[in-house]
Amino acid sequence: MPRCTIDPIVEILLRLPLALTPSPVRSRLSRSGAGETATPGPVFTTQRLSVRKAEPSARDARLFYRLWTSPEVMAAVGFPRGIDYTEEQIMRRLRDRPESEPGPKLVVELKSLPVRIGECKLGVPNAEGISETDVKLLPRFWGRGLGTELKQGLVDYLFRNTNCRAVKATPNRNNIASQKMQEAVGGKRVGEGLFKAATNISPHAVDVPFYEYLVYREDWERRQPI
Ligand SMILES: CC(C)(COP(=O)(O)OP(=O)(O)OC[C@H]1O[C@@H](n2cnc3c(N)ncnc32)[C@H](O)[C@@H]1OP(=O)(O)O)[C@@H](O)C(=O)NCCC(=O)NCCS
Repeated sequence: MPRCTIDPIVEILLRLPLALTPSPVRSRLSRSGAGETATPGPVFTTQRLSVRKAEPSARDARLFYRLWTSPEVMAAVGFPRGIDYTEEQIMRRLRDRPESEPGPKLVVELKSLPVRIGECKLGVPNAEGISETDVKLLPRFWGRGLGTELKQGLVDYLFRNTNCRAVKATPNRNNIASQKMQEAVGGKRVGEGLFKAATNISPHAVDVPFYEYLVYREDWERRQPI
């Protein structure tokens, strides 16, 4: 995956220690209309990221549109041409999603600037006590450790707030970045399989050969600072 260009201000802020992140930047950008402050409070935060529930707003719909229609983002999950959604369809989906539906759609933002950078999923534990996670970032934010930071945040959240015994992910066997991300947070490769092409979602969908990774609660506990 190539490194992409990134806004110079965002680049500088990503490198700054959190304590040095200038809060006036956030308010100046909000006032100028260059960004939008998130309305709902965060579900959790990490050093550089803030994760919150998606809203049926034009800007959240735009984020999901950019992610789901992107061949670069979606190739590894079986959609090499992206998915042919419109922003209106996505907006309807965000608006009509029942509150009771498990695993709300989550938006990932930078803490230092009101910038949406991706989405993630916190799965509800199944009958075996396994929760599934997913992470998708816009390509210009790849390769800066943000994926690993987010995945660690998801794992921490699930072990602290649910009784799940393991956190699962199923990266494409060709998706080295995601496999490294799973391993960086203590994930163990426990199996492999094949997801059949989701042609009900896109006629261009392809099969996805995947590895199954699990982070076990006992391994996570061992990694906690005393
Ligand atoms: C997978 C994804 C979330 C990773 O995000 P990211 O912010 O780039 O991840 P990180 O910067 O934390 O990098 C994770 C590891 O992968 C490595 N890496 C990144 N891109 C790589 C590439 N193209 N090839 C090999 N390794 C790569 C990094 O060096 C890092 O390894 P390290 O810990 O040994 O240094 C991001 O690529 C993405 O959104 N992809 C599209 C959607 C997707 O595939 N989601 C995963 C579904 S399971």
